[in-house]
Amino acid sequence: MSKIFVIFGATGKQGGALINFILQDEALSKEFNLRGITRKASKPEAVQLKERGVEVIEADMNDPPSLRPALEGAYAVFAMTNFWDKASAEAEVAQGKAIADVSLTAGVSLMIWSSLPNVTKMSNGELTTVEHFDSKAEVEDYIRSLNFPSSAFFLPGWFMQNFWDNFVPKPKMISEDTVLFPFAWPPDMRMPLIDIGDAGKYLAPALRDPAKYNGAQLVSATAFYSAQEIVDIWSGVSGKNVRLATGDEVEQFITHPLQRDVLRPGPLFLRYGYFGPNGDRDLDWTLAQLDPADKLTTWEEFLVRNGPWDFE
Ligand SMILES: NC(=O)c1ccc[n+]([C@@H]2O[C@H](COP(=O)([O-])OP(=O)(O)OC[C@H]3O[C@@H](n4cnc5c(N)ncnc54)[C@H](OP(=O)(O)O)[C@@H]3O)[C@@H](O)[C@H]2O)c1
Repeated sequence: MSKIFVIFGATGKQGGALINFILQDEALSKEFNLRGITRKASKPEAVQLKERGVEVIEADMNDPPSLRPALEGAYAVFAMTNFWDKASAEAEVAQGKAIADVSLTAGVSLMIWSSLPNVTKMSNGELTTVEHFDSKAEVEDYIRSLNFPSSAFFLPGWFMQNFWDNFVPKPKMISEDTVLFPFAWPPDMRMPLIDIGDAGKYLAPALRDPAKYNGAQLVSATAFYSAQEIVDIWSGVSGKNVRLATGDEVEQFITHPLQRDVLRPGPLFLRYGYFGPNGDRDLDWTLAQLDPADKLTTWEEFLVRNGPWDFE
């Protein structure tokens, strides 16, 4: 009999990508019956999931009793939270812990959590304000303390999709052939880029062999790219001269205080790196676990797929 796999964020990027991956994988699609969680089953993304054979159940992470029927009978859970919904670390921790508690009570065997590094610990207490990383790490620690039969932790890098997310300003034509990339990132600053549509490829090892990957952190990205490489590759694909913004130029793009730390990199990215000092080693380890058939999307392929690039 197929095992029930409950996927939070089913209508969003991470959970949606995991569902796509499992549905197209011959073995995993037979092994699991997918159950997608949403707050609103009538929304188009949820209706489409239903049409593709996914069971859709309404539940709200802010309402723990609603999680009980959602997790009933589940063998595996992919849990994620959307920090930006409330922009509150406290709310994110409460949501994550609620899912973990109810999952444990429901007898879940494989608990997968979308986590991020603990920046306060990584920086020996120097950086204490990267809340949306620390809050996810706090939930990871909590899940570890619950001793599920198996667990795994997905640590995604910087989504390639961020560059045209509504929150982030769009690159802007500033002359006939020059485009300003609205980030004042030093040219040699390196970011781990992930096409979040590839999420399932990184999680596949833990799904195929939960015992082997019990407790593993899957630090996930196609590769580290320097800021200079990011704009150079974009230039190559678009045929325009895409260049990094200066600190002064970036000011014109800032319309929300939260953008400031992203468009101008904070000390985490500058001094420690997105995944911390062991990021290269940890990413190499994850990449070595993946099935070579599950080819990861490069930044260039991602740009080609999302073109043509008619900048405004
Ligand atoms: N962007 C990046 O580079 C990056 C990198 C690492 C980590 N992250 C983290 O990724 C998370 C966002 O993930 P995403 O981009 O995959 O999200 P997304 O595409 O914005 O989708 C959010 C999902 O969360 C669900 N959701 C939100 N609040 C919920 C609630 N109270 N109860 C039940 N479901 C709820 C939504 O479901 P319904 O709306 O259907 O209910 C939706 O499926 C953030 O926490 C962010 O910190 C982002």
